[in-house]
Amino acid sequence: MERHSYAVPQRGPRRGERLNRLVERWSSRLGAGVEEYSFGGFAAGPISLRARNPRSFEDAIEVTEHRITLHGLPESFRGFRVVQLSDIHHGLYLPLQALIDAVEMTNRLKPDLIALTGDFVTYSRAYIEPAAAILGLLRARFGAFAVLGNHDFRVGADEITRALRRERIQVLRNRHVTLRLDGHVLHVAGVDDLGYGADLHRAVHRIPQGAPTILLAHNPAIIRHAARHGVSLVLSGHTHGGQVNLPVVGSIFGRAEEMRFKSGWDRLGPTQIYVSRGIGTVVLPLRVRCPAEIPHLELQPPARVSYPGYAD
Ligand SMILES: [Fe+2]
Repeated sequence: MERHSYAVPQRGPRRGERLNRLVERWSSRLGAGVEEYSFGGFAAGPISLRARNPRSFEDAIEVTEHRITLHGLPESFRGFRVVQLSDIHHGLYLPLQALIDAVEMTNRLKPDLIALTGDFVTYSRAYIEPAAAILGLLRARFGAFAVLGNHDFRVGADEITRALRRERIQVLRNRHVTLRLDGHVLHVAGVDDLGYGADLHRAVHRIPQGAPTILLAHNPAIIRHAARHGVSLVLSGHTHGGQVNLPVVGSIFGRAEEMRFKSGWDRLGPTQIYVSRGIGTVVLPLRVRCPAEIPHLELQPPARVSYPGYAD
């Protein structure tokens, strides 16, 4: 995997009418001042509880670019791009405007597929519908696919599933879909959260051994099972990248040993993983040296080896 630089595209000329209507509708339902909730934490900057511009959260969200080589990826999927949104936690700590900005940033990347890796809300059912309505504005060539996180199960898994499905977002609850392009396939599987009924065996059932498979799973600890099943790539969240990363002390969240897969790219045996720092926060409305993240992943097959004087 390699990282390369990325310039955030400029904001479009104006927001759509539908967005404006949604914001007005949900802002009034959730109470005045919805814009005033904090969304702390900015790249490598000092502790902060407020975006520099409270009307736009884009400079608080980092788009990170990664090129990932997947063994067995068909040539027709070369350059296939996935954008991941994780741990939105829409609620008091993450206002609707931040989610709108994240959705707009995602759409501007014109992805082939959008992966939503759970924790759409934190505590309250009141935020399910507005979050789903905004996520319904996501656009990708092959669509948006979601799995649920631990918070989603505590708040209402079925209600969140229904709300996302109404917005034409496929919720992968221990199942997979098969994407087809020029006669070749790429499998996208998803599991429920690890503590709430994850069944990887069922999710990948009937996927041929060695077939390229992306697994959406909220908790990165699934990687030990995924590696046994030969999954190519896992996309996870849950850890928030530690959320508060202090000098010397390190991260406040996710210090446990099993949190080896806490942030960014890693691999275990045949399985690669990307763990997003996510968008929202929990416990504290604060991020320190751990900015919100939208990973933008480009897939490619292994490089072809050519031998001088040999033509295949
Ligand atoms: Fe989370």
